[in-house]
Amino acid sequence: MSRFTLVLPALFLFALALPAQQQPSTPTTQKTPTYVAIPVEAARQANPVKPGPESLARAKKWWTLDCAMCHGADGNGKGETAKDMKLTLVDFTDPATLKDRTDGEIFYIIKNGHNDMPPEGPRIKVDENWDLVNFVRSLAKKQPAAEPKP
Ligand code: HEC
Repeated sequence: MSRFTLVLPALFLFALALPAQQQPSTPTTQKTPTYVAIPVEAARQANPVKPGPESLARAKKWWTLDCAMCHGADGNGKGETAKDMKLTLVDFTDPATLKDRTDGEIFYIIKNGHNDMPPEGPRIKVDENWDLVNFVRSLAKKQPAAEPKP
């Protein structure tokens, strides 16, 4: 956890050093981060791991170790480290949050990190990375009524 607390002041100073006009037009909130850097072929990659109970059980271990401190145990984005770092995270319990995201994109974000999110990199196996994709999706609260068919 300490590596995050060390990184933050550095990022903050860097942000201060940027002249205001040169700031890229990134939104000040993290509500809708853009993931333009994700290669198309990575975004299109199909998830080879079925989102069954075994996959979710495997993912739970990594979620608790590496993700819950920021994203919250239930995925609401209110983990302690997120609070410490003053991050505003998206709410995975809201089904709308990841609905336009492909499994491949989520895989890529988990593997490579993004802005303030650290990469899992080689810490987890490829299949475990897909398990986490399934897990993140499973956090969405089920809608009371069935979704209307398009
Ligand atoms: C240090 C805090 C931190 C940790 C730990 C962390 N994340 Fe994140 N996560 C973030 C931030 C911040 C963003 C938004 C990134 C951005 O704005 O570019 C994010 C974004 C995401 C997204 C994309 C959400 C969207 O907008 O579509 C996913 C999926 C995700 N995280 C999953 C995970 C998983 C799974 C783990 C554990 C392996 C994890 N995160 C660990 C901070 C964290």
